[in-house]
Amino acid sequence: MKKEAKQLTVKIDQVKKVRNDIFLLSFRSAYIAQTAKPGNFLHLKVNTTILRRPLSIHRVKDDLIYILFKQRGRGTKALAEKKKNDQLDLIGPLGNGFKVKRRENSILVAGGIGVAPLLFLAQKLAKRPMSKVPASPAGGQRSTPDNIILMGAKDKKELVCEEEFKKLGFQVKIASEDGSKGYKGFVTDLLKKRLRTSDFGLRANIYACGPKDMFDQINKILKNYKNINTQLSFEQFMGCGLGVCSACVIPTKTGYKKVCQDGPVFNLKEIY
Ligand SMILES: Cc1cc2nc3c(=O)[nH]c(=O)nc-3n(C[C@H](O)[C@H](O)[C@H](O)COP(=O)(O)OP(=O)(O)OC[C@H]3O[C@@H](n4cnc5c(N)ncnc54)[C@H](O)[C@@H]3O)c2cc1C
Ligand code: FES
Repeated sequence: MKKEAKQLTVKIDQVKKVRNDIFLLSFRSAYIAQTAKPGNFLHLKVNTTILRRPLSIHRVKDDLIYILFKQRGRGTKALAEKKKNDQLDLIGPLGNGFKVKRRENSILVAGGIGVAPLLFLAQKLAKRPMSKVPASPAGGQRSTPDNIILMGAKDKKELVCEEEFKKLGFQVKIASEDGSKGYKGFVTDLLKKRLRTSDFGLRANIYACGPKDMFDQINKILKNYKNINTQLSFEQFMGCGLGVCSACVIPTKTGYKKVCQDGPVFNLKEIY
């Protein structure tokens, strides 16, 4: 178990339906608020399943912790049915999160519910100290780095949190596969375009969370931009969540690694 991870029983503050099958759950925990880093996850006990379910820390506001989740099966259905003041047993914060590069430009890439951990990351990126970033490779100075999020989903019903990112000063660009909102196509098309048409991307760090197909596409695009540092957060099936059972392994260039312990965030160069 991660050094600072603890098993806690917390009281639910609220469970709110955000869209069709997307829910926002909050609870109070000063301990998680103080120790959690963007990209960390919580392993939640839901009474309908033997195994716990991993869910990312979506947002932290004072000692309120938010989780944004999509109802998929029995575990997330049970969570969606929780009520205010119900108790929730959790272990966390777990996993290795994002390395936050506060002084540099950021491009966040969210695929569907992969947006969940990126809001907490955006909170940290937005709270950066004033710094000097070159305005172009040739020179010039600007006082704060720029942040952008590229959000993609199958259709507009799956696109959430646009306003929250805007409030944190992020530019928001949207893609939907059916064209119901924003650009019609994949979010990775937006990334390709961004890197081709502006030198902003060449000096940015990329942080992505979404399905593996999206990571494969990002890797293809970045073959032409080898110097861009890219971190990927994987959503893998898990058993113990504590590094014991090996249920969550993924292949990397240096052998199989455990998403629960070595990840969920990996550098793109470790994987491809
Ligand atoms: C580190 C980590 C962080 C995560 N953070 C979030 C989050 O913030 N919000 C969120 O909505 N989800 C997140 N997930 C995915 C989430 O854990 C699963 O959706 C959840 O465990 C499904 O449980 P269930 O009992 O509802 O579904 P199950 O009954 O177990 O499965 C129902 C369906 O969902 C699919 N499914 C199950 N688990 C996953 C998975 N890990 N990835 C993709 N498909 C899956 C199955 O193929 C099946 O079709 C995260 C996963 C990991 C590993
Ligand atoms: S889930 Fe058991 S080792 Fe990762």
